Parts: sequence; structure tokens; C-alpha cells
Amino acid sequence: MTNLSFDDYFISKVIFVETLAMSKILVIGACGQIGIELVLELRKLYGSQTVLASDIKDICPKAIANGPYHSLDIMDNNRLESIVEDHDVKQVYLLAALLSATAESKPRFAWDLNMEGLFNVLELAKNNKINKIFWPSSIAVFGSNSPMNQTPQHTTMEPSTVYGISKLAGERWCEYYHNKYGVDVRSIRYPGLISYKSAPGGGTTDYAVDIFVKAVADEAYTCYLSEDTKLPMMYMSDAIRATIEIMEVPTSQIKIRSSYNLAGLSFNPKELATEIEKQRGDFKITYAPDFRQSIADSWPNSIDDKYAQTDWNWENRINLKTLVSEMLHGLSED
Ligand code: NAD
Ligand code: SER
Repeated sequence: MTNLSFDDYFISKVIFVETLAMSKILVIGACGQIGIELVLELRKLYGSQTVLASDIKDICPKAIANGPYHSLDIMDNNRLESIVEDHDVKQVYLLAALLSATAESKPRFAWDLNMEGLFNVLELAKNNKINKIFWPSSIAVFGSNSPMNQTPQHTTMEPSTVYGISKLAGERWCEYYHNKYGVDVRSIRYPGLISYKSAPGGGTTDYAVDIFVKAVADEAYTCYLSEDTKLPMMYMSDAIRATIEIMEVPTSQIKIRSSYNLAGLSFNPKELATEIEKQRGDFKITYAPDFRQSIADSWPNSIDDKYAQTDWNWENRINLKTLVSEMLHGLSED
């Protein structure tokens, strides 16, 4: 409080607190599987008016109608900039992307969307219009030449899908913008995410949600992956917690500016179906692998996330038994 009078000090404090209170968080791609749950959690923490949801969709889904919503195509840089400036946005969570299975049918479009969206947001930070970015990567950055079990953070990475190529390139650009321009960008390589509040959007791991929809409807499920296809997975509540935790730790704790490996559970369709049957009774599953099998075959079985554990104390909480129980109850109540 050196040379300031008490009144000056008080006024500067109020301005500081009001400035903090007014600055906003923007979630882009908020209507998707992760976006819906992330917006709800961020609003619980920071207040519903502080968190702006946005998506290319014109209409805000009911689930996130408890706060502001802006229709935004991430490719429209002018509109992005005006939302950021008009609402004093200081943090962006960029979730808009095409996922692995959909991207294979529109490779060039997927590349454009996944890369240009990221560049638009990185540039905002480079030009000091925002302070912090969350951008998710994926286990899809690995390829069949990576070690399949306990895949390490630093290893051979030769993805064979357009989605994986875009995520690996995105990681390199995140690190570049951090090293070159000091951009505070934070990232996680999410495993396949499992949730019931919002539907998955075209990934290879979506079977692990679809299977529950069939189980609660007492219908048989035909799985597009073979019974022994083991993949890294995570329950959505753990993924949302990881996302907010990595954004909240002091910048000095973020030692990796490409993207952190993150592990939850690892299981195959047969193990998942067995646990569903154990908890719900008779459940029929058959297997008819399609083009997604070769994508899954190129991805790890399990992930080593020791850097996330060491750098920002990451710890997964939900095991297979709890995940199955929560999914069955959650979908039964819908
Ligand atoms: P999703 O497909 O469910 O949601 C993406 C959202 O982005 C959709 O609501 C869509 O309407 C919106 N969108 C699409 N094009 C847009 C555009 N041009 N402008 C603005 N919005 C647009 O995806 P998700 O599962 O929520 O994934 C979010 C992010 O997390 C993606 O980057 C994805 O690669 C990554 N990720 C997801 C998983 C997973 O299992 N869900 C795993 C690894 C990484
Ligand atoms: N769940 C995502 C997908 O299957 C992994 O990034 O595309």
C-alpha cells in the first residue's frame, strides 16, 4: 500500500476485483459431448454469467441454457474476435473439431477445421487479447509404431488417421506458440470419454457409450470393434476435473506445452459387456468390426501418465465398476 491513501487503495482494489469478476470464459464447441458437461461445471465454479457457451449450432441446447450462448463458427475469425472483445473474454476452451471416425470421411475439411480453429485462438493469445487457452489432444496422436502398452509421453508418434495427424500437428503448434510468443496454452491427450449427459460426436471410442444406450433399452448391441480391442478410456467426470485442474494450476507447474498423456481405465468391449451383464443381468453383444477397427488397432491399449501425476498431481478416480453403475443409472433416469 506504499504511497496510496486508504481511499485510493480501496478504489484500486475494487477495480481489480471488478475487472476479475467481469472477465469471461468462452467455451467453443459447447454443444458437444465434452462441452455440455464442461460448461455446466465451469458455471458451477465461476458463475453462470461468467461462462459463455458457443457452438456452430444456432440453438442453445436446454442443458446449458442456464447462461449466455453465442452461435459461432470457429472458422469465422472476425466473429470470434468480436465476441472476445465485446465480452472481455480472457480464457478460451477450444473443443470444436471433427473426431476420428467422422474425419476419415472428410479428411480435408477435418484438417481445415481442426487446424484453423486452433490457429484463430492461438493468435488471439499471441496478440494479448486472451490470457489462457485449453485445447484437447487425443490418444490418436500415437500410431502403430508407438509402444501399445503403457504408451509413454515421449515416444514414436506416427498417427495414420487425419484426426491423429491434426492433433499431433496441433500439439507442435501449441508448444511453438508457447516457446516463441509466451502463449499460456494447456493441453491433455484425452482417452475415449464416456458420458450419459451428452452424446458422443463421431469418434472410434463411441461404442463405449452406445453399448449402454442399448443395454438400458434391453436391446442387443452389435459392436463395430472386435471383442478384444483394448483402448484407453475415461469417465467424463474425471475428464472434466482434469481439464479444470490443468487450467487452474500455476503456470510454473505446466512443464509440457504440447499435451499431457492422461490415463483413466483400459478395457475391451468384452470386458465392458461382462461388467454390464454383471450389474444389469442378461445382455447380448455381437461383433461386426468395420472401418473403425483399423483406427482402434493403431491406438494404444493403455497410457503412462506419470508426467501429469508429477507435474499437476493428476489422479484418476472412477473405476470400471463405478463407471458402469453410473452410466446405467444415469441413462435409466433420462
Ligand atoms: P463433439 O463432436 O461431441 O463436439 C464438438 C462440438 O463442436 C459440436 O457441438 C459441434 O457442433 C461443434 N462444432 C463443430 N464445428 C464447429 C465450428 N466450425 N465452430 C464451432 N463449433 C463447431 O466432440 P467432443 O467429444 O466434445 O470433443 C471435443 C474436443 O475434445 C475435440 O477437440 C476432440 O478431438 C477432443 N477429444 C474428445 C475425445 C472424446 O472421447 N470425446 C477424446 C479425445 C479428444
Ligand atoms: N474418442 C476420440 C475418438 O474416438 C479419441 O480422440 O475420436
